[in-house]
Amino acid sequence: MIDYQSILDEIYLEALNSSYKGEVASYIPELATIDVSNFGVYLKQLNGNSYSIGDWDKPFSIQSISKVLTLSKALQLIDCNIWDRVDVEPSGNPFNFLSLLEQENGIPRNPLINSGAIVVADILVSKLENPKEDFINYIRDLANDQTIDYNYKVAASEKEKGFKNYAIANLLKSYGNLKNPVEDVLDFYFHQCSIELNCEQITKVFYLFSNKGKCIQEIKRLTLSQVKRVNAIMLTCGFYDEAGEFAFTVGLPGKSGVGGGIVALLPNNFVIATWSPGLNEKGNSLIGMKALEQFTTKTGESIF
Ligand code: DON
Repeated sequence: MIDYQSILDEIYLEALNSSYKGEVASYIPELATIDVSNFGVYLKQLNGNSYSIGDWDKPFSIQSISKVLTLSKALQLIDCNIWDRVDVEPSGNPFNFLSLLEQENGIPRNPLINSGAIVVADILVSKLENPKEDFINYIRDLANDQTIDYNYKVAASEKEKGFKNYAIANLLKSYGNLKNPVEDVLDFYFHQCSIELNCEQITKVFYLFSNKGKCIQEIKRLTLSQVKRVNAIMLTCGFYDEAGEFAFTVGLPGKSGVGGGIVALLPNNFVIATWSPGLNEKGNSLIGMKALEQFTTKTGESIF
C-alpha cells in the first residue's frame, strides 16, 4: 500500500526548504503581489480517497489552466469542427509567441497556447447565449460548487496590459480565424483566465478527464474519444516549450497557469493539483513541477 500522505508530507518539507522558489508573474499587475512562499497540493483519487498539504484551500488565479476547460466546452458544442481552425501539434514555443501564427497563416499550433485558446474563446462567444455566465456555470457544475467565480480585478488588470494578446487576436482576425470582434473575444478570454479556484476545486473540475468523461457527480459530460483528445493535447502541449520536460520528468497529462497552478492526472486513477506561484523561465511553476516529479517518482504512478 502506498502511503500517499507521507509522500505529500515529504514533498512539502522539501518545497519549504528550497531557497529559490521562482518568480511570481508580474506582467499581470494584480498577480505581482502574491506571496511566493504559498505552496499547496491536493490529490483526489477516483476510489474516493483524498490527501492534501499546505495551502491547498487558498484560491488562486487559474490563468492558462482554463484553456483546457474552454476546449472541453467547445468540444461539447461543436466537436470535430474545432480542428479546422486549430491544430493539435506541440509548438515548442512560449505561450504568447506570435511569429509562428503568421508563418502558419493564422492557424494556431494547438488550443493550449494563447492563439489557440483565443480561437476557442471565439467559438464559445459565438455558440454560448451568455458566454461569461454560461461558462462560469459550466465550471460550477463540473465542481458541484456554486461559489466559484471570476476575479474581475484580475481580468481588468490583464486587459490593461494585454498588448500581446491584442496582437495575437488582431493577427487571427486578419487571417479570418476570428469571427467575433477582437474586444468581445478578449473580454471573454481575460475573464476565463481570471477564474479563481483552490487546489481541491481544481481536482474536482478536472475529475471528468480522469473519469472517462464523467464529472464528480457521475454525470457524463464528454465522450471517451473527447477525453482521449483532451488528455493527449495536455500531454503534448500543456507546458508550452516545456511540454517534453514535463512528460519526461512527471509522465502525466497536465496543464499549468502563470498563477502558479498545475493540474495533472492519471486516467482512471487520480487528479492532483499543486500551487506555488513562483515560475521558472518558461512560465511554469518551479516548485509545482518539482513536487509532481517527486510524486510520480515516489509513488511509481504515471502513464508510462
Ligand atoms: O494570456 C495570458 O498571458 C494569461 N492570461 C495566461 C498565460 C498563462 O497562464 C500561461 N501559462 N503558463
